[in-house]
Amino acid sequence: MQIFGVDIGGSGIKGAPVDLEKGDLAQERFKVLTPHPATPDGVAEGVREVVEHFGWTGPVGLTFPGVVTGGATIRTAANVDKSWIDTDARVLFGGRLGGLPVTVVNDADAAGVAEMRFGAGKDRRGTVILLTFGTGIGSALFVDGTLVPNTELGHLELDGHDAEKRASSKAKEDKDLTWDHWARRVQKYLAHVEMLFSPDLFVIGGGVSRKADKFLHFIEGIKAEIVPAELQNNAGIVGAAMHAAEGERA
Ligand code: BGC
Repeated sequence: MQIFGVDIGGSGIKGAPVDLEKGDLAQERFKVLTPHPATPDGVAEGVREVVEHFGWTGPVGLTFPGVVTGGATIRTAANVDKSWIDTDARVLFGGRLGGLPVTVVNDADAAGVAEMRFGAGKDRRGTVILLTFGTGIGSALFVDGTLVPNTELGHLELDGHDAEKRASSKAKEDKDLTWDHWARRVQKYLAHVEMLFSPDLFVIGGGVSRKADKFLHFIEGIKAEIVPAELQNNAGIVGAAMHAAEGERA
């Protein structure tokens, strides 16, 4: 079965039909730039372009970089326009896509679900935490394979700041930090998350997962195993489609 997945990120809106048996994209993905400011109207237009590019007419799963409840309602908007808060994103996107069935899920939760089924967390029991390092820091917490949604661990306090302002990939870029310097911030952040949850495994996702060899060796003193995500930049698209598939079955 195929379902269309769309990943709405701070820099791009990317999507493709997903092969749910393989956990992979069925066609090469298509991307448009995220508008700035990232308003509901501007983002919905980007989503429409991506979906129309493929002439898709079936169900669509989308990610959103904030808290999403009930597959629809946006509750927070740290890195997108604040007018998203309390929006019914299912109505917004469904309307813009000519009435296609739509579900929405937090971006890190989507990436986590995909990694647990097809990637670095496959068959892993116990407590697993996937963290995505990008414009912000996203988190997905699993206990024996079951997701605890919307954990928002990127907003824990680190050195008196919102953790994602110190340790996201954007913080590395904005402050032009070396890998070594940035990895020490990530290490401090992981130590804090470990103190709270004692996970068995950390999966490191987001764009940086491709560059794990540049920084993972700098991270010391964490008891949990730490591995890079395997689906890398497609995890959000695959997870969004998986989430929509669950809605279809329900
Ligand atoms: C948001 C999360 C999101 C993460 C990654 C954070 O600022 O609050 O909901 O998962 O960024 O996009």
